[in-house]
Amino acid sequence: MEEKEDKNKSEERQQSKRFTKIKLPYLISDLEPEISSLTMFYHYDILHSAYEQGLNNLVDDFEKKNGKFPFEDLVSLLKKIELLPLEYQTMARHFGGGLVNHDLFFLGLKKNPSRLSSDSNLSQEIIKTFDSLETLEKKLISRGTKLIGSGWVWLVCNEEGELQIYSTANQNSPYLAGYFPIIGLDVWEHAYYLDYFTDKKSYLKNLLKLINWERAAALFDEAKKLIGEKI
Ligand SMILES: [Fe+2]
Repeated sequence: MEEKEDKNKSEERQQSKRFTKIKLPYLISDLEPEISSLTMFYHYDILHSAYEQGLNNLVDDFEKKNGKFPFEDLVSLLKKIELLPLEYQTMARHFGGGLVNHDLFFLGLKKNPSRLSSDSNLSQEIIKTFDSLETLEKKLISRGTKLIGSGWVWLVCNEEGELQIYSTANQNSPYLAGYFPIIGLDVWEHAYYLDYFTDKKSYLKNLLKLINWERAAALFDEAKKLIGEKI
């Protein structure tokens, strides 16, 4: 009997945990010295889990009052957030955006990444738009350094298939504006303060050494494919 009750409780927990954060494909110590294990612990283990929990609490509350939550995945939720009742939209933007942004951020980093392949479509588009990868990196650092308050700097692909640098405040996601994120740089203080104090520029310079360019190139190809399918 007790065993059955425990099983039911476990199933209830599973149901309420509809949205889950990604599992890190590396150890929290792997990004040192650019990002310390302590920062990674607070950022991935504590804060990222809080976005996951916050969104799942919102879903539970919604379902108690309104029936089935209308979204199965994060991207659809953010692209059509206006379909939610108004009283849920701010928190869905915060927790849903926080969850998807941090998924992109952590998956977008890698220990000892290789440089972007010059054969990739992304490399060719970067040269067309920014002249060189080095110029793009300088522009990303500059945008991040100048960002006021907490937010994100992105390399996105717009609906015309073009690359652009974009920034969002708080946990707003590029998906809210119909963009496809290729690279996401977290410029909240929690991402760098323990390691760099107020030196945002050094943080961004070092963060760029960890970019998983192979994944960025794959995201760009995927975005172009989705855009092609829409046309
Ligand atoms: Fe963050």
